Amino acid sequence: MVSLKRQLALAMMLTPAAISVSASPTTSGGHNNMPARALTNTSVPVRFGMVLFPAFTPLDVFGPLDMLNSFSLTQPLELALIAKTLDPVTTRLRNHQQANSNFSQSVVPTHTFANPPADLDVLFVPGGAGTRAVKSPDPELRLTELIAYIRTVYPSLKYLVSVCTGAQLLAQAGVLDGRTATTNKAAFNSTAAFGPRTYWKAHARWVVDGNIYTSAGVTAGIDATLQFIEDIWGAERARSISAGIEHVRHLTPDDDPFSAQFGLVDIPPVEQV
Ligand SMILES: *[C@@H]1O[C@H](CO)[C@@H](O)[C@H](O)[C@H]1NC(C)=O
Ligand SMILES: *[C@@H]1O[C@H](CO)[C@@H](O)[C@H](O)[C@H]1NC(C)=O
Ligand SMILES: *[C@@H]1O[C@H](CO)[C@@H](O)[C@H](O)[C@H]1NC(C)=O
Repeated sequence: MVSLKRQLALAMMLTPAAISVSASPTTSGGHNNMPARALTNTSVPVRFGMVLFPAFTPLDVFGPLDMLNSFSLTQPLELALIAKTLDPVTTRLRNHQQANSNFSQSVVPTHTFANPPADLDVLFVPGGAGTRAVKSPDPELRLTELIAYIRTVYPSLKYLVSVCTGAQLLAQAGVLDGRTATTNKAAFNSTAAFGPRTYWKAHARWVVDGNIYTSAGVTAGIDATLQFIEDIWGAERARSISAGIEHVRHLTPDDDPFSAQFGLVDIPPVEQV
């Protein structure tokens, strides 16, 4: 582990000229949980959001968040957890009890899609079994508000990052139209069907197209987030974060053994944008 003292020293070397933070509240926040800050360098992402929905995959959420949690010790970052209501969001898929298990975890949101945080810079969209309920007759399970939120907020974001089948929600929101993307290899073909105007890259651990990062299944979200951190804050920060969690990085986006295992080929767009 890099010591906190060293992390702080690094941060002091890297940030004071780049960002000036004022403690005075701004009026644009409109919410209670995040400290309001007036930033003078608007090119550095500071305000992060993570969407949550029933039956999300925990590591899709906590892989990126664990690294950003430690990064926030040396970098001014804010986090909003955004869901349909403020009730705890469970990993449990309703009506999914084949093994007679009762085994799940819940996360408490800070914001709702109806009352989201102002001025988000980066939105993370996890995947999970819940994304497969989008054709459910139950409107609660179709994630309609979540998909509409992605569509609405995207133009004001600096970056959008999906993990695993979160790419399916991006596709449904229309933000992958005309772009190249990837997703979980175990759900590759079925996810691609939601994005007929997207080039789906099979042999990829992650894809960066413009300001959208899409990653492959679950643990690939850790590598995509490290790439994101490297692209913005530099290779040394990404290296030290991955060393801190003892993660052996996949350093290139096409370092992917799984597309071959699943017999996948790229799926070009079948419709014009
Ligand atoms: C804002 O931060 C970025 C990234 O650290 C840096 O490249 C840029 O020079 C900064 N801009 C200003 C005006 O300080
Ligand atoms: C499953 O566990 C939760 C607590 O984790 C409990 O509230 C619930 O009643 C349990 N359900 C069943 C069917 O046992
Ligand atoms: C995905 O589609 C490709 C190309 O049509 C096919 O060869 C492959 O078997 C499919 N994989 C799955 C898991 O359905």
